[in-house]
Amino acid sequence: MSGKTNKKSLHQKLTEEFIWLDSKYSHPPYHSRLIKEVFSPALGKEDKIIEVGCGAGGLCRKLAQMVTEGEVVGIDISEGYIEKLKRSMERDEAAPKNLAFRLGSAENIPYPDNYFDHAVCSASFSFWSEPEKGLKEIGRVLKPGGKLYIADGYKEGPAWVTVGARIFTLFSPYKMNIYSSQEFREFLQRAGFTVVYQKEVMGALVTMGTKK
Ligand SMILES: C[S@@+](CC[C@H](N)C(=O)[O-])C[C@H]1O[C@@H](n2cnc3c(N)ncnc32)[C@H](O)[C@@H]1O
Repeated sequence: MSGKTNKKSLHQKLTEEFIWLDSKYSHPPYHSRLIKEVFSPALGKEDKIIEVGCGAGGLCRKLAQMVTEGEVVGIDISEGYIEKLKRSMERDEAAPKNLAFRLGSAENIPYPDNYFDHAVCSASFSFWSEPEKGLKEIGRVLKPGGKLYIADGYKEGPAWVTVGARIFTLFSPYKMNIYSSQEFREFLQRAGFTVVYQKEVMGALVTMGTKK
């Protein structure tokens, strides 16, 4: 194995530890606000939900407790997270039975067409290297009329989010993009979604659209 490969894998490991801790310990208040302001009014008990870029999986767990007769799937491009999540689910007898984590990327989602009622991308979209391809793939797995929620920092948002995101990028193996509210709307429209609303939740912009 070359020195370059070793260095990259160490970087990847440190990053995964860092993001794991970050999303495990600093995201809960933001997740609680998303649940209260965005998801509680929108979810039915039998709904099927996918979170793309689930990280430490905390938001998925909360969603699974809401759709008690439905299904929640968290996918992430990082093998490290998915292995950790699967291990912690196996050890946790109280883990929701309707929750699963799988390796996958926004660009390649391991589910059939028209499967989900909702797709959630929380603090994930800005890392995608091929956002157009990812949104098209999400459109494929959503049912017609299915709802997509992109929650992310944005150009016009508070400086503590955008500056924080730029510092965070220093540790990230992924390039991070900060888009404007207009750019989020255009991304969704180009991918065949109707934009229903945009609203700020704890400094992140939530852009919600439905599949035509
Ligand atoms: C900051 S974490 C967000 C975690 C979680 N969604 C949350 O709200 O706590 C961003 C996640 O996006 C994942 N990610 C980056 N690019 C991705 C892609 N193209 N497809 C799927 N996941 C991706 C990363 O591996 C990371 O786990």
